[in-house]
Amino acid sequence: MLKVLFAFTSCLLLLTCQCSAQAAPPPPAGGTTPPPPSNDSTEYLEAHNQARAEVGVGPLQWSQALAKSASLLVRLQRDKHNCSFANLANSKYGGNQLWAGGFRVTPRAAVETWVAEKKFYNYENNSCAPDHRCGVYTQVVWKQSAELGCAQAGCAKDQSSLTICFYNPPGNIVGEKPY
Ligand SMILES: *[C@@H]1O[C@H](CO)[C@@H](O)[C@H](O)[C@H]1NC(C)=O
Ligand SMILES: *[C@@H]1O[C@H](CO)[C@@H](O)[C@H](O)[C@H]1NC(C)=O
Ligand SMILES: *[C@@H]1O[C@H](CO)[C@@H](O)[C@H](O)[C@H]1NC(C)=O
Repeated sequence: MLKVLFAFTSCLLLLTCQCSAQAAPPPPAGGTTPPPPSNDSTEYLEAHNQARAEVGVGPLQWSQALAKSASLLVRLQRDKHNCSFANLANSKYGGNQLWAGGFRVTPRAAVETWVAEKKFYNYENNSCAPDHRCGVYTQVVWKQSAELGCAQAGCAKDQSSLTICFYNPPGNIVGEKPY
């Protein structure tokens, strides 16, 4: 529904740090088992559910059907529309999108970019600071949304990526608070 375009230098630096940290993990301390390997769906889901728990909202469940729809759409945007934002106006799901240039974002970093709009959202009067897109945050924490499915496509040429998450039922009902 709402669009964001985040290609700020500060993001780039932050993400570069995270990537190199992952590339060279410290050796596990004295015989402790390393954390289990995560996959993308778990990472999208945990990042959402962490933000939801912070405001007392229950967790989302992963939906293969939503993930499939998101996957088809990001690949369509990559193959036919140069990785530009999809038009989600007529989608039956809620949707968040992130375009990132110059680097590939991890699933967690993509979700955290949406959650970062939280500081511009005012719960008391359900409003957003001027020039911000709180809708990406309020969709993440929308209480009535129960299912999540996300996908990302990389555009190799310019090392950009498009990430789309779908939510069902959709959030951001005009005039309603997220929780
Ligand atoms: C990824 O994680 C999800 C959720 O925990 C799980 O259902 C799925 O089987 C995992 N897929 C792979 C390939 O490990
Ligand atoms: C595709 O998008 C990139 C920026 O992301 C731009 O540099 C390039 O010119 C675009 N290509 C076309 C065919 O529009
Ligand atoms: C909502 O409340 C905040 C903080 O009191 C205020 O700055 C903002 O202008 C209010 N917005 C609206 C639309 O009333």
